[in-house]
Amino acid sequence: MSLPEAPRLAGQVAVVTGAASGLGLAMAQRLATEGVRVALWDRDTEGATRAASRLGDAACAITVDVTDTVSVRTGWAATKAVLGTPAILINSAGILGRSAAFADYPEDEWQRVLDINLNGTFRCCQAAVPDMVAAGYGRIVNIASIAGKDGNPYVAGYVASKAAVIGLTKSMGKELAQRGVLVNAIAPSASETAIFGPLTDAYRQRLLANVPMARMVQPEEVAELALWLASPACSFSTGATFDISGGRATY
Ligand SMILES: NC(=O)c1ccc[n+]([C@@H]2O[C@H](COP(=O)([O-])OP(=O)(O)OC[C@H]3O[C@@H](n4cnc5c(N)ncnc54)[C@H](O)[C@@H]3O)[C@@H](O)[C@H]2O)c1
Repeated sequence: MSLPEAPRLAGQVAVVTGAASGLGLAMAQRLATEGVRVALWDRDTEGATRAASRLGDAACAITVDVTDTVSVRTGWAATKAVLGTPAILINSAGILGRSAAFADYPEDEWQRVLDINLNGTFRCCQAAVPDMVAAGYGRIVNIASIAGKDGNPYVAGYVASKAAVIGLTKSMGKELAQRGVLVNAIAPSASETAIFGPLTDAYRQRLLANVPMARMVQPEEVAELALWLASPACSFSTGATFDISGGRATY
C-alpha cells in the first residue's frame, strides 16, 4: 500500500502560541528556517512583534491571550487573513505558577495555571481543528512536560495541567486519526527559559537531580523534535507523547 502524497512543509502556515519567548520562540524560528510561514501568538505583544520582525516577511505577530476564547478565535481568523489557513498548531503558551506546599496551594492560582496551560490548549485546538479536518491535513503539537508524567512537588497546578494536556492529546489523537490531523505532545525536562524566573544554583541543581544527562535541554533541541512532529514526515504517530528529557523519562 502506498502512502498518500505528503504536502510539502515549505509554504505551510503555522501558529505557535507563546512564541515571544523560550521554547515557543525557538520552535517558531526553526519552522521559519524550513520556509514555514509562522504566526507568533502571545499575550506579550512587544516580545512577539520583536521576534516576528527577526523572522522576515513570512512571519507575523498576533496578540492572543489563550485564556480568552474570543481572543483565540480572532487570532485564528487574523492568521488566516494575513498568512493563510494554518496546517500546523503548536501550543507552547504556558506558565509554571506559584510554588507552594499542596495544603497551602491557593485555589485561584490552581485555576489560573489550569486556564492557561490546559484550557488555553483546548481553546486553540478547538479553533484549529475544523479547518484542519476540512483540509484533510493538520499537525498539532502540544507542549506538555515531563512533570506531567513524573510529577514534581510544590507545583500541583502545573503538574496536573501537563498531565491533562497529555490526556487531551491522547483523546484528540484517537478521534482525529482517520482525518489526516495528527495530534502529539512533547514532554521536555527543564530548560533554562523565562518560565522559572531567575534561577538560583540550588534550584538549578534540584531541577537537574533527576536528569541522567545532567544538563538542561536547549530550546533548539525541543524545536528539532517539534519540527518533525509538525511536518508530513511524521505520518504514523498520533496521540503520543514524545519525551525529550536527557534520560529522565522512564515510561
Ligand atoms: N522551560 C522548561 O523547563 C519547560 C519544561 C517543560 C515544558 N515546558 C513548557 O513549555 C512551554 C513554553 O515554556 P517556556 O519555557 O518557553 O516559557 P517562557 O516563559 O519562556 O514562554 C512562555 C510564553 O507563553 C506566553 N504566555 C503565557 N501566558 C499566556 C497567555 N495567557 N496567552 C498567550 N501567551 C501566554 C508568555 O508570554 C511567554 O512568551 C510551556 O507550556 C511550559 O510549560 C517548559
